[in-house]
Amino acid sequence: MTTTPRKLFVTTALPYANGAFHIGHIMEYIQADIWVRFQRMQGNDVNFVGADDAHGAPIMIAAEKAGLSPQQFVANIAAGRKQYLDGFHIVFDNWHSTDAPENHEMAQQIYLDLKKAGLIKARTIEQFFDPEKNMFLPDRYIKGQCPKCGAQDQYGDNCEVCSAVYAPTDLVNPYSALTGATPVLKNSEHLFFALSDPRSVTFLEEWIGGNDVDGKPHLQPEVANKVKEWFSVRDNPDGTKSEGLSDWDISRDAPYFGIEIPDMPGKYFYVWLDAPVGYLASLKNLLDKRGENFDAYIADDKLEQIHFIGKDIVNFHTLFWPAMLHFSGRKTPNKVFVHGFLTVNNGEKMSKSRGTGLDPLKYLKLGMNPEWLRYYLANKLNARNEDIDFNREDFLARVNSDLIGKYVNIASRAAGFITKRFDGRVTTAWATDSDSFLSGLRAVAPEIQSFYDQREYGKALRAIMEQADIINAYVDANKPWELAKDAANDARLQEVCSRLLEAFRILTIYLKPVLPHVAQQVEAQLNIAPLQWADVTRPLPDQHQVNAYAHLMQRVDPKMLESLFEMVPTVDATVSAPTNPSSGETSVEDSNIEALAPEIKIDDFARIDLRIAKIVNCEHVEGSDKLLRLTLDVGEGRTRNVFSGIKSAYKPEDLIGKLTVMVANLAPRKMKFGMSEGMVLAASAADEKANPGIYILNPWPGAEPGMRVR
Ligand code: 2FM
Ligand code: ZN
Repeated sequence: MTTTPRKLFVTTALPYANGAFHIGHIMEYIQADIWVRFQRMQGNDVNFVGADDAHGAPIMIAAEKAGLSPQQFVANIAAGRKQYLDGFHIVFDNWHSTDAPENHEMAQQIYLDLKKAGLIKARTIEQFFDPEKNMFLPDRYIKGQCPKCGAQDQYGDNCEVCSAVYAPTDLVNPYSALTGATPVLKNSEHLFFALSDPRSVTFLEEWIGGNDVDGKPHLQPEVANKVKEWFSVRDNPDGTKSEGLSDWDISRDAPYFGIEIPDMPGKYFYVWLDAPVGYLASLKNLLDKRGENFDAYIADDKLEQIHFIGKDIVNFHTLFWPAMLHFSGRKTPNKVFVHGFLTVNNGEKMSKSRGTGLDPLKYLKLGMNPEWLRYYLANKLNARNEDIDFNREDFLARVNSDLIGKYVNIASRAAGFITKRFDGRVTTAWATDSDSFLSGLRAVAPEIQSFYDQREYGKALRAIMEQADIINAYVDANKPWELAKDAANDARLQEVCSRLLEAFRILTIYLKPVLPHVAQQVEAQLNIAPLQWADVTRPLPDQHQVNAYAHLMQRVDPKMLESLFEMVPTVDATVSAPTNPSSGETSVEDSNIEALAPEIKIDDFARIDLRIAKIVNCEHVEGSDKLLRLTLDVGEGRTRNVFSGIKSAYKPEDLIGKLTVMVANLAPRKMKFGMSEGMVLAASAADEKANPGIYILNPWPGAEPGMRVR
């Protein structure tokens, strides 16, 4: 370990802003968060940033479907991020967006610099165009019959039936997946980044095979080897030809949600050009807020720029991104740390309908402890890019036997006696005891340190648990609960328990990157300042007074795991959903209230899932004199678009920020103005003419989005 603090700039891949986080995102963030926390405990200086990857055709199309502007759509997604990050104790120093002004400016500047370097080439290409939608179609929006096996409805680049790979123009009877129209071929001028230029090839060959300033490679060996294959010009065994690096198409035609190319109106950067620039934009935004100089920070030779990514986006981070930075005169990344995918329950691909999906928000909502997951994933994580599996039985065993049975057990055996019998005072009388296991426990610090630094978290935790075994053997040999039976043993009891608390303190230091919240509780109980790595050799002083012990962590209840993987029932929505809740109901003559609907059983009621919803946005619907468009947050990590016939009763601005009640499991309905994903509840009189009021429901204070109304 170096003695001068390292200066680290750390990122995780920027998630597309078209959906909530899934467990794969959370795993990557946990991996990086552990590393960042570890580095900070060493006294290193870290900036850890993320952002939403806002641009691209899929987001533009999803926004249109939801009846929102892309900016509003992306903002809604961004609003759902915090609950996941806070929930799993993932702390980014900044969370930004690739649609932010910093990113527009920086992406354009990088492009202009690359152009000056002579690495941007214009070329006319022929592409499928949807004549109804008036837009060029990305490959994934073109479907047709597979040219090889004849399967219907295959995507433009490969066949899911026979795995053939082809160009969209090879499809038989192609059609636009957006409108169904037959696409036509049309020319368009595109810009390319000249990756095949000998300068690019030479630089990349060096960078990929090269070492960082610390003498360690930029890439894991298995990653570097894979990337090198993309360079070679050769005949493949399957008869195809590898042509080496080809130029990269970096432009897209309007309509496109992205950053406009400065000297080409109507053309936009392909999302993957500006996405990694978002790393720098988020950092700049952070440093600007702090009044620090971004240019000086990022150009510093001592700065280590480190990207955590998944194995599916290696090409973007090891070819395009370093080349973009290098040839625009900027500092290149120091390390790209690649991890594999997370599979669930023995490698089954995640699928909600099969009940194998692991929904991170459901995990939290079930009250499962986030640190169980952090600990479990850390156990599985290593420095390679291999896939890891979430296995229920294994999860239960790791958490209950290691974390609770070994680690927490030590504190629960010792802490109570210190507070109850010795006024919370520890003794250092043990320090003279020559057979102390504490020296062994301290001696493993460098080994554990090196495991964390190399992202070998599984190895670090195994080394820590070996120590916990030794300490537990001491607990069993000395049986504090037996010593406590006879006051004559008091001195010995205080010594044994003090030694155990010291051991527990050291274990807590070792586990702190993985278990930040537990560590915080331990610090409060031991009545000490936040633990740093160097505290391994700074024992609690003699007569230090600790606070009362409170249990640190519950065991995993297998029932929770059952609920976590319980299949999501498909709801057979038979409830009618009038657009205007005040219309079309029958009334009873001699009463001014409506006749009651036929009696139902409690089970019938239970089928209707009513939830507290927050109205995060509300606006008029162009062309409708009845409807308002509501954007609702039901705590799902995404928002819903719901049309409601309440325009006569409410001004949009009066509803924004309010809570209401919605039917959350109503099948989405396609309406003239877009999809409606549920229904808000409102009261109205039977006689609309006499009493035209519409009153939407508003819960008492304290209710929160997502709570069920039963
Ligand atoms: O694959 C993805 O989810 C991309 N949104 C990752 C972008 S990483 C970086 F380049 F922004
Ligand atoms: Zn096929």
